[in-house]
Amino acid sequence: MPRLLPIYIRWLWKPGFPETEDELRQVWFMNQGLSPSSFADYCPELLKTAADFKYLKWPYKVRRHVKGRHVVDLGCGRGLHGLGYLLMGARSYTGLDPIVDLDLDAFKDTRIARVNNMKPIGWTPRKISERVKRLKYLKGEIAELPETAKWDVLVMHQVTEHLMEIEAVFEHFPRILKPGGKLVFRHPNYYSWGGHHMLPRFLRDIRPEDPEQRRYMDWAHLVYDPNWPDTILKEQNRIRLHELRKVVEKDFVIEEWNPAVSSEEEGGGRLTPEILARHPEFTREELLTQSVIVVARLKEAASR
Ligand SMILES: C[S@@+](CC[C@H](N)C(=O)[O-])C[C@H]1O[C@@H](n2cnc3c(N)ncnc32)[C@H](O)[C@@H]1O
Repeated sequence: MPRLLPIYIRWLWKPGFPETEDELRQVWFMNQGLSPSSFADYCPELLKTAADFKYLKWPYKVRRHVKGRHVVDLGCGRGLHGLGYLLMGARSYTGLDPIVDLDLDAFKDTRIARVNNMKPIGWTPRKISERVKRLKYLKGEIAELPETAKWDVLVMHQVTEHLMEIEAVFEHFPRILKPGGKLVFRHPNYYSWGGHHMLPRFLRDIRPEDPEQRRYMDWAHLVYDPNWPDTILKEQNRIRLHELRKVVEKDFVIEEWNPAVSSEEEGGGRLTPEILARHPEFTREELLTQSVIVVARLKEAASR
């Protein structure tokens, strides 16, 4: 243990996160301790795959909210964030999503944008759960969770913008959280430069000769078009940030609301006075907010 202390202190202060197999092992045992279940659940191969597919960054960012907690991840997708939460010290992880297929060996490699990013890793969600006992995947909707299921923390990573009936989904949160339970999520803002989820998402994607891009680029996606593809019309709720706040505040007290401003590469430098003048219903701040990280606590009165 004394040998690990300097590594732990360095890791706490270092702005990065563990990546090599050595660092992953050290951080796992620092956060999960030296109990039999920690040894039993330690799987270097899966941790390395999660690191390679870039599933550690988000759990690392929210590590102080998940350490020692039972975590449920709504809209986990075909992903490996669960290993990241356990690495950061979560007591257990449950990933829930209608698209989970327990027997499919295909996981999203987040290094690859959008298309052709599902890759086999030699594991299925079921096999991962059998190997790592405190990591569980569930296929389904939140409404299907049993009355008795309760967690300390509900996390969502890039999910809220896809909840087409967001209020109805949030209605279930008090039921599945313990009293004083937390909600932690990252919400990508539709009204940012690349918030439409189409191309161009980044400056490097811009193709001036492509008429399709002109339909969305430089905040053209603020003007409703009934001919937009389903990716916008049926898969994004286009919720405004003040509306999102209202949805959260119904049953939660917001403890942190941390907006991230769009970088140059994310189009942050392309907002002109003319564009702003064309959309008087938006503030400059809202159009330049790429995403928001929200931490909220369940109101006492909302506990069920
Ligand atoms: C952009 S993906 C994010 C996946 C994962 N959280 C990640 O960061 O890699 C959005 C996910 O939300 C899921 N989703 C959409 N509506 C949902 C709902 N009502 N309940 C649970 N998951 C939902 C989708 O199936 C999809 O997997």
